[in-house]
Amino acid sequence: MTPSKEGARDIRFHITRYNPESDSKPHVQTYTVPVTPGMTVLDGLHYIKSYLDATLVWRYSCRMGICGSCGMLINGSAGLACNTQILHITSTDLTVGPLPNFRIIRDLVPDLAPMFQKHHSVKPYILRADASEIDDPAGEYYQSAEDLEAYLQFTYCIKCGCCMAACPTLATDKSYLGPMPATAAERYNRDSRDDGSRVRALVTGDDHGAFRCHYAGECSRVCPKGVDPGKAVQLLKRRLVLNYLHLGRKGQPCSKLHGPGSGKPMAGVGPAPKRTVE
Ligand code: SF4
Ligand code: SF4
Ligand code: FES
Repeated sequence: MTPSKEGARDIRFHITRYNPESDSKPHVQTYTVPVTPGMTVLDGLHYIKSYLDATLVWRYSCRMGICGSCGMLINGSAGLACNTQILHITSTDLTVGPLPNFRIIRDLVPDLAPMFQKHHSVKPYILRADASEIDDPAGEYYQSAEDLEAYLQFTYCIKCGCCMAACPTLATDKSYLGPMPATAAERYNRDSRDDGSRVRALVTGDDHGAFRCHYAGECSRVCPKGVDPGKAVQLLKRRLVLNYLHLGRKGQPCSKLHGPGSGKPMAGVGPAPKRTVE
């Protein structure tokens, strides 16, 4: 029996269903959910699964806009189910579907593997020309508050894929790098400890890289964390052009480093901790 809720308003959830083992194509199924103020789309899905249809499938984990698992298409816009209050966006009907631009695994679960393969391809970690500085660190790299500020906004990405789902370029070119991996690349390119932008340029500057973006800006509009991936892609384009013209800032990655790069640990900075993995 479904629980009654005082003051609840009935909202019709029109949900895309798809089971590859029994369905030839996705279809829409409608459920009526009693919604009280404060209920999120994720809460509504839990209600359906608990009281109306246990076969409904979606992905979630943290329930607090941190893990990036619950990205879906909500009333035609990509967003986080746990971060979207139902009564903020409707008083009658709500459509919920899987993120576009991804293969549907089942119901509301998209296959994000291609996005993470592209993310991996841009080497989203600090690269140094001398690999021994990473493998056998002997000091610390100095980074000022201003250095941190240069890339901080791009670290807030939770890899939810909403920007990838909203991108019109990805809709027409599945091989396009996409805003999330491009943002990850620019996040490390802008890190004063990093020396890898030219290595990343082999991916970010190729035929399906940053220059495929025509700056529709949808990625930034839907991003639930204020990352502004559209801006990251434009900064990436500028970097690629300046490097092509040999006008990029020289020596920037290493200019403020102390430690193994210069052979002189910074004054007052102790030795690097022992490796935890051999
Ligand atoms: S840039 Fe924003 S929308 Fe894109 S994956 Fe990161 S958090 Fe999600
Ligand atoms: S700004 Fe570029 S990456 Fe962002 S949605 Fe538009 S085309 Fe895609
Ligand atoms: S459940 Fe983690 S972001 Fe929504």
